Amino acid sequence: MSRQLSGFKPTGHLQLGNLLGAIRPMVAGQRDHESIVLVVDLHAMTVDHDPDRLRELTVETATLLLAAGVDPARSLFYVQSQVPEHTELHYLLECVTSYGEAHRMIQFKEKAATQQQVRLSLLTYPTLMAADILLHDVDEVPVGADQSQHVELARDVAVRFNGRYGPTFVVPKAVNPGFTRRLRELSDPCAKMGKSNGNEAGVLFLLDSAEVARRKVFRAVTDSGREVAYDPVGRPGVANLLEILAGCLDETPTALARSFSSHRQLKEAVADTVIATVRPIQERYAQLRAEPDAVARVLADGAHRAREQARMRVQLVRERLGLR
Ligand code: AMP
Ligand code: TRP
Repeated sequence: MSRQLSGFKPTGHLQLGNLLGAIRPMVAGQRDHESIVLVVDLHAMTVDHDPDRLRELTVETATLLLAAGVDPARSLFYVQSQVPEHTELHYLLECVTSYGEAHRMIQFKEKAATQQQVRLSLLTYPTLMAADILLHDVDEVPVGADQSQHVELARDVAVRFNGRYGPTFVVPKAVNPGFTRRLRELSDPCAKMGKSNGNEAGVLFLLDSAEVARRKVFRAVTDSGREVAYDPVGRPGVANLLEILAGCLDETPTALARSFSSHRQLKEAVADTVIATVRPIQERYAQLRAEPDAVARVLADGAHRAREQARMRVQLVRERLGLR
């Protein structure tokens, strides 16, 4: 059976782009893949962070992933820092990755450009992500478009390592979910919807109340012109709303565009559908938050199971590299 893995950074509250870009594809893939789902807390430390907030967001993210359908009976599910082999493999892989490769990453350039003090871990972050993936012999990595370049790097590192030190790693590939690969902000349909952009008005968080979600959708920037057509280049605002709607309903934006005669009608449908999509997740989340020990047990059990496999994998890599 092929294997899939994906990771979620606890840098903020999970949002609709996370759900439609990666969580749903992962959850759907649990049926016919061996699955691994990670809360990648070490990745959240690549930018300035507050320890208490990190702790809280790690629990929130893990609980929301369970509420959204990650099934610990089908998926290996744990918090990255609980399995120290991630960090050990990270270092070993840094020794087969070049500075130029890391420096070329678009996300590094974008994030570094907005900060005064750039953490070194922001530069080496894709190698940690490669370690997450290569630790588990993964074939497929369901991610949004912004992560494809990082998965490509993991691929290059695996191929290089296998060629130089002997067959060791499965070579992974990114799997993007079609038109929901890059949902954009409601207030700026050219910017990626993200959980920590600092522009909350344009981001639909999974835990937003129905009123807040409706207000955000109704304030979404649409384009000039009145009719509803799917044209991502010429009419990005309307296209984004259609992609959100189609993603939630599992339909296509082009087909849906025909059912609306005004922006207002489209916004009503988007608001209703988003609210209906997140409601069951919020209900389940509230139940799970009432049982924090149960969630902690699930994560501890996942980490325990992951460690056994991870130790063997890292031992092999050490031997291949000439360590004792
Ligand atoms: P992050 O929020 O960076 O931890 O992302 C977790 C996963 O969600 C990754 O696979 C991202 O590519 C995906 N993702 C985040 N934002 C979006 C978005 N706006 N559209 C589609 N996928 C997204
Ligand atoms: N870097 C990813 C992001 O920012 C999160 C991540 C870390 C990840 N490790 C991963 C995604 C492994 C897929 C596979 O979204």
